[in-house]
Amino acid sequence: IALAKHLAPPPPPPSFDKTDPSLLNASSAVFAKAINIAFPSARSLGIDIRAFRCKDVKHGDYQCNVAMPLYQKLSALGSLPPGVKSPQMLAQSVVDVVVAMDEGENPILCELSVNGPGFIMCRIRPAFLEDGVNDIIRDGAPTRPKRCGGGGGAGDDNVVVVDFSSPNIAKEMHVGHLRSTIIGEAVCRILEYAGMDVKRVNHVGDWGTQFGMLIQYLKEEYPDFSYDGNDDGGTGSSAMPNITDLTVFYKNAKSRFDESPEFKRVSQLNVVSLQAGDGECLRIWKMLCDISRLEFEKVYKRLDISVEECGESFYNDKIPSVINEFDQHGMISVEDGGAKCVFVPHSKVPLMLQKSDGGYGYDSTDMAAIKYRIKDLRARHLVYITDFTQADHFKMVFAAAKMIGWVNGDSHRLDHIGFGTVQGEDGKRFKTRSGDTVRLVDLLDEAVSRMESSLRERASEGKANISEDEVHETACAMGYGAVKYFDLRRNPTSNYVFSYDRMLDTKGNTAIYLLYAHARLESIVTKGKAEHGIDVDALMAREDGGGKKPRIVIEHKSERNLALHLRFFADSIDETLNDLFPYHICDFLYDLAIAASEFVTQCKVLGSPEMESRLFLCRATAITMRQCFDLLGIRHVMRI
Ligand code: ARG
Repeated sequence: IALAKHLAPPPPPPSFDKTDPSLLNASSAVFAKAINIAFPSARSLGIDIRAFRCKDVKHGDYQCNVAMPLYQKLSALGSLPPGVKSPQMLAQSVVDVVVAMDEGENPILCELSVNGPGFIMCRIRPAFLEDGVNDIIRDGAPTRPKRCGGGGGAGDDNVVVVDFSSPNIAKEMHVGHLRSTIIGEAVCRILEYAGMDVKRVNHVGDWGTQFGMLIQYLKEEYPDFSYDGNDDGGTGSSAMPNITDLTVFYKNAKSRFDESPEFKRVSQLNVVSLQAGDGECLRIWKMLCDISRLEFEKVYKRLDISVEECGESFYNDKIPSVINEFDQHGMISVEDGGAKCVFVPHSKVPLMLQKSDGGYGYDSTDMAAIKYRIKDLRARHLVYITDFTQADHFKMVFAAAKMIGWVNGDSHRLDHIGFGTVQGEDGKRFKTRSGDTVRLVDLLDEAVSRMESSLRERASEGKANISEDEVHETACAMGYGAVKYFDLRRNPTSNYVFSYDRMLDTKGNTAIYLLYAHARLESIVTKGKAEHGIDVDALMAREDGGGKKPRIVIEHKSERNLALHLRFFADSIDETLNDLFPYHICDFLYDLAIAASEFVTQCKVLGSPEMESRLFLCRATAITMRQCFDLLGIRHVMRI
């Protein structure tokens, strides 16, 4: 069968597909078809016939470099058609076929030419670009990439679990958790946009040996506490101790633990009691979790994060059967001290499913969690977002899940996004001046207050178009947006230096620049109505859905460039779905903003004969920018 498969000719290339908004796919399809017509044997030669975007738009919009390798192969096989004596000639015959195609077969490519050793260069047809702008106006947002389609109900292939944020109870969330939270939220939004059924999971560290000392410390420091899970401010039966700062509480407990052997001993007993379900220990544990949760939620609320808690404790009772399953497959090695380990290929270090004292740790929980996500949640795709130091841990977890057969071959996609460190201006790990970890709330407050002063300053200079009551809300959108974008715009695996000045800069690749660019476009649209009587909203709401042609006319070079950039949206989504790095969307957004700014400086919009078309182009750009902001988890503002 394998041989037959090998011998069967590959399927003919897909034709141009109207429903697929990817320009890359569309132009590749036209080239593939032409090559298939001109050189039918090319298909079986395994040559990459995809087109790609030209680096320099001076030369063309897209290009296809198939002629050189194809010429070599065909000439080696002696199967070049007579008359084709060079790669240039081969390229020209592909061009001839494209040019001869009717509009149904090729609605997109024009101005084809052969350059240098045989590069085929082309432009996208203005009518195709005009349709693209019309589509955005009509549908309100750029169309989803086709392959994202999105499935139906449960059991479909479209369940994705994204494990992100995942801070630890009784510890402060730090910038590392901020990265995971920001990246995770964006990844979820992008997958949801692509039609996936995304389970957003907060795998909080709510179980583990640290609870022994926390419980003991609480028993000793707050002997009179009572807690039934309903904090009513201490007026009723429930009196939650007033632990305003859980981190200080944690530090104090830790120093007792390190100093006093007796404290340490009873703490360890607490761990055993907690895991065995002792009522008092559970009550204290729950209370500590509740206090922490309130703190985490404050951050989530500010940053528009939605994530559902399913912490480590959830898996506690699922671990024994997991260990049993590995045992039955003969995959457990028992270490000298009695710890139960699983060795996976290519790793000297094993996963530890049970410690020598019988307890379960991080590895045990993650094995139970991966099984639960695959078997119970029926996820096809699992994404974990943590700092890069956990890369080996996840490699082992994934390898073990394959070894035991929960994951077979290509049936599942498993990703760990291991992000880099956030550094201070000194290049070291980001700390406060006194050397403490930076509290997230303080960091966010600072971004907002700096933004507030900058907005007030602009307002006093008559540059900002907002009133004092709008300052705070606008500053939140911009400040949080700036912090997020500063992270998202780069490859997550890189480290970066945290700098308020750079992230809040109104110039360059920052959220602030982009939010201003967006507001500027909307202000032109507003003026179009107020000063020139062209009401884009009313025109868009017309019966024909605003799709009546030809409303958009693309003529000027910078109009064309902007309309072309709008078309790249779908490809940026495709790229992001491939590697789950949201920076592709940031790159797209930034390039789009630059194209828009060139357009508004080079083309007169208000009061020009092309005003209606140009206002629509502004609006289509603003709609696309808002879509990107939304995918990145950034709030937009209509007016600044
Ligand atoms: N709580 C962990 C930490 O703070 C992150 C957990 C990530 N998720 C997981 N399934 N291990 O580093």
